[in-house]
Order: sequence, then structure tokens, then C-alpha cells
Amino acid sequence: MALLKVFDPCAICLLCLVLSASELCNGGITGNFLRKEYSPDMPLDSDVFQVPPGYNAPQQVHITQGDTDGRGVIISWITPDEPGSDTVLYWSENSKNKNRAEGIFVRYKFFNYTSGYIHHCTIKNLEYNTKYMYEIGIGYTIRRFWFKTPPRTGPDVPYTFGLIGDLGQTHDSNVTLTHYESNPKKGKTVLFLGDLSYSNDYPFHDNTRWDTWGRFIERNAAYQPWIWTAGNHELDFAPQLEETTPFKPYMHRYYVPFASSHSTSPLWYSIKRGSAYLIVLSSYSAYGKSTPQYKWLRDELPKVDRSKTPWLIALMHCPIYTSNSHHFMEGETMRVVFESWFVKYKVDVVFSGHVHAYERSKRISNIAYNIVNGMCTPVDDQSAPVYITIGDGGNHDGPAIGMMEPQPNFSAYREASFGHGIFDIKNRTHAYFSWHRNQDGYAVEADSFWFHNSYWNPLGKSFVAQH
Ligand SMILES: [Fe+2]
Repeated sequence: MALLKVFDPCAICLLCLVLSASELCNGGITGNFLRKEYSPDMPLDSDVFQVPPGYNAPQQVHITQGDTDGRGVIISWITPDEPGSDTVLYWSENSKNKNRAEGIFVRYKFFNYTSGYIHHCTIKNLEYNTKYMYEIGIGYTIRRFWFKTPPRTGPDVPYTFGLIGDLGQTHDSNVTLTHYESNPKKGKTVLFLGDLSYSNDYPFHDNTRWDTWGRFIERNAAYQPWIWTAGNHELDFAPQLEETTPFKPYMHRYYVPFASSHSTSPLWYSIKRGSAYLIVLSSYSAYGKSTPQYKWLRDELPKVDRSKTPWLIALMHCPIYTSNSHHFMEGETMRVVFESWFVKYKVDVVFSGHVHAYERSKRISNIAYNIVNGMCTPVDDQSAPVYITIGDGGNHDGPAIGMMEPQPNFSAYREASFGHGIFDIKNRTHAYFSWHRNQDGYAVEADSFWFHNSYWNPLGKSFVAQH
């Protein structure tokens, strides 16, 4: 009681304000870096949207993993004038013999828009840890690119992932991508957390903005895989335009290897890469009990062998823990359904986007709550994942600056600046995460965290999942 008399609430608030660089209340940090709120999309004649020269030249080239283990690559591109060739010629850096693979092409219409010829070609049985050259546009305008396959899957394989979410196509988006490319940590694969082009914000969901976005990211996505997660801006559900097939443009343009993980939908799937087991989930597909996604994840998690892939990582668009007022509680229903599994199977980290800010949680869970027992406050739980929201790619909606106050105990660091993340796996026990703010120098870490692997190197006491 005496302490309360000395430290009245006003005095405590004053103390918090005195901690000037960051607000340090309730154990978490709220970065006070302020940035402008709104950045428009880059104009159509921007150099980053330039159409490559040559008749029917392939454009919007991007690659993603094409199988479960990293020996396959899906190469996708669009030809604008006529179908052209579905062929990919590819060869390892030290070989003179070109291999040939045949793909397919698809098209779609969306209201008054008709897409170009969207090609997808999967090449398989590649050597690990090898640089490959590839050529597309055979017969007309040939374009050449390259990529490097990952090391063979194994428990102590170092590997560096980049994390980008909610990118859009503004000047800030361009800064984010440049910052990622220039980061000396050199991410080898992008884990993309949903919300790609934001074309649905245009009248009639102007799909030419899907095309500009594809040309914008080509400079990176043609050379390293981007692992795709679908967000709400991929839904493109527009009954007023008689467009009622959800995810139509996204699913025609961005193929993923869902069948190899026995998924029945491109919206949820898994891959292994290096020492990581990556599980992609869909916040905008059914996930309640007995739904296809629920059953798939229920059957998928027990398959993860931490002696081969120690790092278990889940990707989803909508965060299930956030202290931002934007999209607050939107992930609550998925938390109710999936959180106990994340704890039971010791998921190391859940990355999400959607909220246009950065936030890192402590290891917490809220699985004890059963509606009647009142235990609805998250508690420290070393078996629980760290939740990282990184929807700060820089789209035209601007940053989500409305934080809930006071900062809740589960929130370790939060800031409404644009940026990207790096998840740098060292071995089976340690990984280093860093968050890089766009306004800083390329090597600056605005926030960082050493991960101790939840299976091999847990810290502290663990709570066992209750159900
Ligand atoms: Fe979103």
C-alpha cells in the first residue's frame, strides 16, 4: 500500500514517458519510430514495371519450390501476345548439356480483363546445392535466369530465409524489396506472408495491377524461390462483377507444390527446405473441425521428424496474436482451432502478415481456457511458438499505427514501420531472427531474437497441451 502511495498512476505514466527511445511498459517495447502514413502505388510507367523487350517476351518470371524436399522448382512466366513455348531449358552451371522440361499454360478472365498466357513448368530431380541456369521464351524472345538449389535436407544445415508480407506496389514496397536484396545477410528464399498486388483495391479489381506486380518482383523472384501464402487481397471475390470464384487470379498465377504434401488445395501445403519444415496455412479457407484444411494439418503435424528437420515453421496471413487495433481478434477463431496443436508439436515460430506493422511475441499460449474456467489470459509457455507479425512490406494502405494500450504482456516488441525479416538458421539448436526497418542502413537490425529450437534446445518449463 505504501508503494501505491508513492508511485501513483500519474507518476508511473511519467516514468514511462521518460524512457524516451522506446516505451518500456509491461515488459514489452513499442518502437517510437514514426514514418509517413501513406504511399501511393508506383505509376504504370515506372521502370520497375517495364515490359521486357522483344516479341512475346516472357515476363513476370517467378520461381517457387516444386516438390517436398527441394530438388524441384516450379518456373512460372507470362507471355503477352501468343502462347509461345511451354519449354524450359536448364543446365547446371558446370554442365554444357541443356536439359528440357515441358510445362503447361493457363488463362483466365476476370470481369473485363483477360490474362496473358500463364506458363508453369516443374523441373525435378535437380542436384542439391547447385546453381542452375534456365531459359524460357524458346522460339521467340529467349530470356535467361538462374537459381541455386538448397542443400540436402538435414538437421544441422544452415539456411537463411527472408520474410516479406503485404508488399503491394508502392514506392515503399520498392524500398522494402531493395532493402531485402541489399541486406548483407543474403536471404536465399522468401517466405511471403500473403497480400501480393493489392489489385483488388482498384475499380473492377483491375488485374493489370497483378501484371505490374509480377514484373516488379521478377528481379528477385526469378532468381530465388518465393514460398507463397494467400492473404485476403488474393480472394478477389466480387459477386457484383459476377466473379464468385475465390482466389481466381492468385491461383492461376502462383502455383505451389501442394499435391506433394498430400494437400487437396494450393492454399495449404508443406515443404522441407534445408533444416526447416514449412507449413503454409490459409486464413481465408475453412479450418474448423472436419474441414479439409483441419484434417490435413491434423495428419501433417505428426509427420514432422525433428531429427531431420528441427525447425518447424508455420506461415499464415492473419496473425493469431496481435496487440494492434487493426484487424484485432481476426485470427481468434484460427487460434481456438489450431493453437493447442502448435503447442503440442512445439512449433518454433508462426509468421504472419495482414497487420501493417511489425510485432514479436514472447512464447505464450492460451490453451487452458475452456469457456467456463475464466483462464483466458495468455501465459508463458516454452512449448508455444513465438508469433511474429511482419505485414510491413509497404502497401498503399499505409502502416497500422493504432496500437492497443497498454502493451500487453505477451508482446515483446512492436512498431508500425515498414521493413522485412531474416530467419537465419545456424544449426539444429539455434537460429537468429532479425527485423530490418526500411529507413535504416542495410545491415541495421531494428529488432532481433535468438531462437532456441523448441525440440532440441528448449528453455525453461513447458506446459503440456490440454486437449
Ligand atoms: Fe491482409
